[in-house]
Parts: sequence; C-alpha cells; structure tokens
Amino acid sequence: MMMGAKSAPSLASVSASIMTSALNSTTKSSSAAHMTVLLNEAVDALNLKPSGIYVDGTFGRGGHSRLILSRLEKSGRLYAIDRDLAAFAEGQSIQDARFHISHLHFSEINQLASNHNLTKVDGILLDLGISSPQIDEGERGFSFRFDAPLDMRMDQTRGKTAAELLTTISEQQLGKVIKDYGEERFAKQVARAIIKERTDGRAITTTGQLAKIVASAIPKIEPWQNPATRTFQALRIYVNSELEELSLILPKCLDLLADGGRLVVISFHSLEDRIVKQFIQGEQNRDDLPARFPVKAIDLPQPRLRVVGKAIKPTTLEVKQNPRSRSAVMRVAERTAVS
Ligand SMILES: C[S@@+](CC[C@H](N)C(=O)[O-])C[C@H]1O[C@@H](n2cnc3c(N)ncnc32)[C@H](O)[C@@H]1O
Repeated sequence: MMMGAKSAPSLASVSASIMTSALNSTTKSSSAAHMTVLLNEAVDALNLKPSGIYVDGTFGRGGHSRLILSRLEKSGRLYAIDRDLAAFAEGQSIQDARFHISHLHFSEINQLASNHNLTKVDGILLDLGISSPQIDEGERGFSFRFDAPLDMRMDQTRGKTAAELLTTISEQQLGKVIKDYGEERFAKQVARAIIKERTDGRAITTTGQLAKIVASAIPKIEPWQNPATRTFQALRIYVNSELEELSLILPKCLDLLADGGRLVVISFHSLEDRIVKQFIQGEQNRDDLPARFPVKAIDLPQPRLRVVGKAIKPTTLEVKQNPRSRSAVMRVAERTAVS
C-alpha cells in the first residue's frame, strides 16, 4: 500500500475482533481465488493515461487493479476501495507507491476524494456484486453450500446481518425483496415459510436452516439449481443495499470525472444494469424539453456523458472458463466537457 498511507477513517472504528476474524478469513482465502471478469475489456475501456489518476471502487482480489497498475507510469495513481475487510487486507499487501486502498463503501467516494485531495480523476471502475472468496468462504454466510451463521454482509463492521434483518422484516416486504432481487416466482410462498418459522418462535440463524425452509416452500425444484439460489441472491442484495450503493455513486462519478474520464461498470444483475443504463441514458436526454419550452437551443443542457460503444458481455470462452461471468454486462461512458 502506498502514498503516505493515510488510513481510511472507517477503519479506526473497526473492532479488534472483527479485524482479526477478517484477517483470518483472508488467510483462508488464499485458496479461494477470484477470477476477474472482463479483465482486459474493462481496463482497456478505461482508456488509461499512463500518468492518470484512477479509482477502482471494487478492489476484490485486485485483478483489475493489478492490470491498471501495470499500465501506469511512476506518476500515475490508483485509489482502490472495498467494503470487505478481507479484500482491504489483500489490497494493503500491495507494496506500490502509486497505490492506495481504503476501507469504504463506494458510495463514499467523495470521502476518498477529500482524504486524498482529489478534485478530478481520469477513470472509475466498478465491478459490482460479490467476489468468489466471499461466496466460497462458508463462514461469510453468503452460500447455501455451507452451514454457517447467516451473515451475508460484505462489510462485517457495519449494518445488520441477514439473520438480524429476518427478525423484523414484514412478510410483504420480504416477498418483494425475494421477487424483485431474486426473480423468484415462488417469492410469496418462500416469504410466508420464513415468516412462519419466525412466528413459530424459531429464529433463523444459519444458512443451512434458511436453505431448508426455502426448499420446503418451493413446489417445483429445478434439478440444475439449488432451490435457495434466488432467495440467497435476493437477501444478499438487500443486506448490502447494493442497488442503493450504485444509485448513490453514479452521480458522484459525474462530479469527480475529469473531461474525457471514463466510467466503466460491470453489472451481474438486470436491476443493476438497468440503473447504469438509465443513468447514462438520462444524460443523453438532458435536452428533452417539451417542444414549446421557452429556451433557446443554446441554453439546453447537454449530456455530461457520452456513450462509448455497446454493452459488452464475456466471450463464450470466458464463460466456459469462468461460469460466474455468464451474467456480466459492461457499460462504458466518457465524461464530456459540459458542466
Ligand atoms: C466482483 S468483486 C470485484 C473483483 C475485482 N474486480 C477483482 O478483479 O478482483 C466485487 C468486490 O466489490 C466489493 N464491493 C461491492 N459493493 C461494494 C460497495 N458498495 N462498496 C465497496 N466495495 C464493494 C465487494 O466486497 C467485492 O470485494
């Protein structure tokens, strides 16, 4: 880690026990690798200037970050963010004066900017969702493949665990979360079964328990997929406020990007991709005013982002080598000089 290492403010409040457990899980994670999705495509899309300043908002295990660093010269800078302490610890192990990692949520990108006196950056990369180590380390509580405490927080220093959220959420809201974020057609039945467990006085505290309840509520089991897949995905998105985080960072990227700076976002869920697409599209339609609106054409607001190419998906070869990449969609936009 680098550059006069100001430690990220949120870290100061991290309790020693959480830190220790995260570092332990980092040690375990050395076997749980993350295969970076759209590695070259995303870094190429940043259109790097060797001496530019870049932000990787989702460091993970640093696949994109390391390739960016390999293309920067001595004066270039890369500021990484990850809300996950194990990812943060991995970033701290990078000994490179051009690199700094902060333990923040990416929606707090302004805090990163002010911590480092950055007024503008030349590119921002977001590779959304979770990393393979997060899914593959049972104790994180993201997966039904292991029986573990039902946590699901990417940032174990803040917010409520999935188990805690399940103690208060209403059946209606839970059904909506499972339907919207998990695209589960039996969402109502699953929500009813979960809430029944609670009202019968049995707290749902483990992934195994939840997986069983979900399986019991789904009338039609698909042989190729665990019946809990969609519910677990939905709860993860809810626990981590993933869509809110994305909606919060996008307008901040507009403010922080220098003219010609690139925004590159890789989504793994249609709801995420829709937020990104609509945000970029919204800029194309800034001058959409009613036909008889009393302004001169010259006064009409112009797009602050220019769409760069079409949405990009992984090649068949990448999906074959890394099936987890199959739902990825990458969108790229460039900041214009319009204020
Ligand atoms: C798909 S992985 C990124 C993998 C990375 N590009 C690589 O090549 O190793 C997503 C990472 O982003 C982090 N993350 C997701 N949402 C975040 C948020 N709102 N703020 C900060 N980090 C976030 C997760 O903790 C995870 O480590």
